[in-house]
Amino acid sequence: MELTMNQQGAAYLISAVLFIFALKGLTHPATARRGNLFGMLGMAIALAATLLGTEVQDYLLIIMAGSIGAVIGIVVALRIQMTAMPQLVAALHSFVGMAAVLVAIGTFINRAQAGTLNALLMGELSAGVVIGAITFTGSVIAFAKLQGIMSGAPIKFKGQHLLNAAIAAVTVLLAVEFALTGDVWALILMTLLAFALGGTLIIPIGGADMPVIISMLNSYSGWAAAATGFTLHNDLLIIVGALVGFSGAILSYIMCRAMNRSIINVVFGGFGTDSSGGDSAGAVAAEKGVKSASVEDAVYWMEDANKVIIVPGYGMAVAQAQHALKEMMELLEARDVEVKFAIHPVAGRMPGHMNVLLAEADIPYDHVLEMDEINPEFQGADVALVVGANDVVNPAAKEDASSPIYGMPILEAGKANQVYFLKRSMRPGYSGVDNLLFYQDNTSLIFGDAKDTIEGIVGALKGGGH
Ligand code: TAP
Repeated sequence: MELTMNQQGAAYLISAVLFIFALKGLTHPATARRGNLFGMLGMAIALAATLLGTEVQDYLLIIMAGSIGAVIGIVVALRIQMTAMPQLVAALHSFVGMAAVLVAIGTFINRAQAGTLNALLMGELSAGVVIGAITFTGSVIAFAKLQGIMSGAPIKFKGQHLLNAAIAAVTVLLAVEFALTGDVWALILMTLLAFALGGTLIIPIGGADMPVIISMLNSYSGWAAAATGFTLHNDLLIIVGALVGFSGAILSYIMCRAMNRSIINVVFGGFGTDSSGGDSAGAVAAEKGVKSASVEDAVYWMEDANKVIIVPGYGMAVAQAQHALKEMMELLEARDVEVKFAIHPVAGRMPGHMNVLLAEADIPYDHVLEMDEINPEFQGADVALVVGANDVVNPAAKEDASSPIYGMPILEAGKANQVYFLKRSMRPGYSGVDNLLFYQDNTSLIFGDAKDTIEGIVGALKGGGH
């Protein structure tokens, strides 16, 4: 069976609509699974329509390459840890970038042999090569930083921005020359320079800012795919590339806004990359006028409470405390305590980080509330249990105009009757800023690994409390 151009176009249109439904589904945890299914269906239709099109010349090669890719994809997907998801995404973006480069070069060779090159096509090829090559090396460096193969610390040197600007300018000039003359050397040099630029753009960015950068690289990979779509005259690739390009750009913007940072500041900053140098626990806490408390204290306040709001943060992910939290939630609910989870948009280190972990522990979606929904509820809550979160509840964001997090919206945990922080030491969070909420009268800190502490609470609740 071979599809006509019209049939293929209709199938692509259906795929494109399914991809839009997929993105819509992914905007909420409750609909995310359905969104993924739409995406998978859209991709299956797109692949089938492409394979059944008139342009396929060699099925054997496609089946061989597809099988190898599928095996690698399945093995990686089954083995990947949730915490390693950002670097997996980075690795996948690098493939998109490299694919765009290879398709552009392949198209150039084919069309040069057929004698059908023209300036417009070569302009499209340049865009594909440059965006693809930057995406490739940028993503490889992001992967290496997140995987710990390279230090997460920013690599900075004098004249760095000038060097980047110079490489970018020469690359653009070569792209123009290539488009006008078809000079192979311009293509080769432009490709090499774009690969270099991907690296030099990403090395000054600290490991902690990588989530925003990954989202930006996601956007680039979309534009690389769109450029490839123009080259191959494939409407679906253009549409999908644009969807990925825009959604990645919008997500980067949302993340920056939620951190009260500008995208420029992230790209050139090197911010919050070293959280060492803090001090540790009990004695220091007392010296600073901070109250430390025990598991029993927290149990005492929680077991007879009407409402407990849990604020998870990066430390919950480090401690992997989500399953213990689920058990604690069930024990409290058995005692008629209302339990809710408060999610800040940038809690953790990647978008949706907390939602994913809570979903993994089967915590019902209706218990998990976004910042705007939950903030009015802190006022009437008996206990706010802050589990490995820090910056996202720091009142300095509202009160201290000199603070680097000033302006960031926060979860108003401090308004609960009692606030318990579960953390290991007095060290600050990602932003490196001391938390004003530690010093509030109704706040106590329970020092220790969050999972150990929650397990202690669970044990006490099972044993009948204090
Ligand atoms: P943070 O402010 O980074 O605080 C995390 C806290 O967890 C630390 O104070 C740490 O204290 C504690 N912790 C670490 N391991 C722990 C463990 N095993 N047990 C108990 N506590 C542990 O986290 P947050 O409140 O989630 O805020 C997120 C921050 O990351 C924001 O500043 C945000 O702007 C930034 N950021 C977010 C994203 C996204 S997209 N989510 C991307 C980039 C940056 P101890 O060391 O004392 O235990």
